Amino acid sequence: MKCSWKILLLLALVYVVIQYIAIRSFPSIALNIGSVLHNQNHFQLLHSMDPACLRYKKDYLRNISPSHVLILAATRSGSSFLGQLFNHHPDVFYLYEPLNHIQSALNSTRANRRMILGASRDLLRGLFRCDLHLLEDYITPQPEDHTTGQLKRRGASKALCTPPVCHVFSPQLVNVTERQCVQKCGSLNLTLASQSCRQRGNVVIKTVRVPEVSDVRDLLEDPRLNLKVIQLVRDPRGVLASRMMTFPQNYPLMRLWKMKRQKPEGLNLTREPVCEDYLRSVATALRQPDWLRGRYVLLRYEDLAKEPRQKIEEVFTFLGLDLDKSVVDWIKENTRGKGSWSPMEVLSTNRDSATNSDSWRLKLSYDMVQYLQTLCPLTLHELGYKFVNSSAELKNLSVTLLETRTFWTST
Ligand SMILES: *[C@@H]1O[C@H](CO)[C@@H](O)[C@H](O)[C@H]1NC(C)=O
Ligand SMILES: *[C@@H]1O[C@H](CO)[C@@H](O)[C@H](O)[C@H]1NC(C)=O
Ligand SMILES: *[C@@H]1O[C@H](CO)[C@@H](O)[C@H](O)[C@H]1NC(C)=O
Ligand SMILES: *[C@@H]1O[C@H](CO)[C@@H](O)[C@H](O)[C@H]1NC(C)=O
Ligand SMILES: *[C@@H]1O[C@H](CO)[C@@H](O)[C@H](O)[C@H]1NC(C)=O
Ligand SMILES: *[C@@H]1O[C@H](CO)[C@@H](O)[C@H](O)[C@H]1NC(C)=O
Repeated sequence: MKCSWKILLLLALVYVVIQYIAIRSFPSIALNIGSVLHNQNHFQLLHSMDPACLRYKKDYLRNISPSHVLILAATRSGSSFLGQLFNHHPDVFYLYEPLNHIQSALNSTRANRRMILGASRDLLRGLFRCDLHLLEDYITPQPEDHTTGQLKRRGASKALCTPPVCHVFSPQLVNVTERQCVQKCGSLNLTLASQSCRQRGNVVIKTVRVPEVSDVRDLLEDPRLNLKVIQLVRDPRGVLASRMMTFPQNYPLMRLWKMKRQKPEGLNLTREPVCEDYLRSVATALRQPDWLRGRYVLLRYEDLAKEPRQKIEEVFTFLGLDLDKSVVDWIKENTRGKGSWSPMEVLSTNRDSATNSDSWRLKLSYDMVQYLQTLCPLTLHELGYKFVNSSAELKNLSVTLLETRTFWTST
């Protein structure tokens, strides 16, 4: 089809008809009719156009289709906290690390990084379109009747613990722990999960298993999706400190350092994957390639932890989501006190805790921090984290290590 005025007129007409039906019907009926039209007529109509129409078509689909959001992060960089802000939004279907299943399924085979990334992309594409049955291929034991008790971290997803998926807890009851959800809700019916996904409309997936933003370029360019990427970064010194506290067995020499107060011989964290991944991925984004334009946000965890409400409002505005009351309430409940915020208690609201993004400064000695700084000077610089120049600076939490930066790649 040529991109002629006739087609544009036809598109406008279809749009007006849908709006008309939507206004005339009850909301639920409108939703159904809207999505049928959208999936069939509409889409086929839009499908076979010449490139001149492509831009128009993309903008057009973007305005009427739900948001798909991928949160890209590194382990221990605050992504569970960011995920929770989405998890508590009633119009969001949130999934916590579904790519876990691919990694464990393909780990024992001879699949290489490229194959795993390929499978991950396909799974993400399907999940964003609410086809949760695709997960079945990677779950062991294989689900029967589209039902499984083995979905990892199921309880971290509020949509999978409330109706229509699970009727034990009411949608308003937000203080359900992961464990309670798994114990009380029984096996997960993936057909119902897919239904819940379609009802909520927007799909948000958090992963630490996609190392670089260019790994999802295919998905960003897929006209059937309306994908936006939030890349969450954290001060690499904080990431490493947090990993050392959480997985001490992986950092025996750092433990020794802490105990003996002296750098052990042979310590070499050069290969620790945080600085380089950040750098590659962030450098790609900061070049502002066409395929990322208007679809990417770089968010520093420290900025989010300092002003969660304001930051998340900015992010939601970018995504076209409203700042729902349940999200605001969750922030109030969970960022009050001074304790550490525990990702395992994700659904709980009655904890008096905070996201203390700076606590690493009290846990690491100055010489440790100096060493970590030598590992990734460029990353610190690019992301706007100041070098610490003395022990006094390190321990004085009123000294900020954040340079003010705006990273949005808008328009
Ligand atoms: C993959 O396999 C290795 C050893 O075969 C194991 O140490 C590792 O924990 C596995 N990773 C995952 C994600 O299952
Ligand atoms: C959940 O919160 C409600 C009201 O905030 C409270 O009455 C209830 O006891 C809480 N339930 C649990 C299990 O903590
Ligand atoms: C899962 O839910 C669907 C839709 O409600 C239902 O038809 C199916 O019987 C359920 N499966 C099981 C095993 O209960
Ligand atoms: C640390 O390891 C890297 C590669 O693994 C090597 O290039 C580097 O020389 C090592 N540094 C030290 C101080 O041993
Ligand atoms: C440490 O010194 C560098 C270079 O003088 C400076 O840019 C940086 O802001 C200082 N760090 C802090 C926390 O003031
Ligand atoms: C901590 O830093 C602030 C701001 O730079 C400074 O005013 C204050 O005196 C410092 N406190 C101590 C104990 O050094």
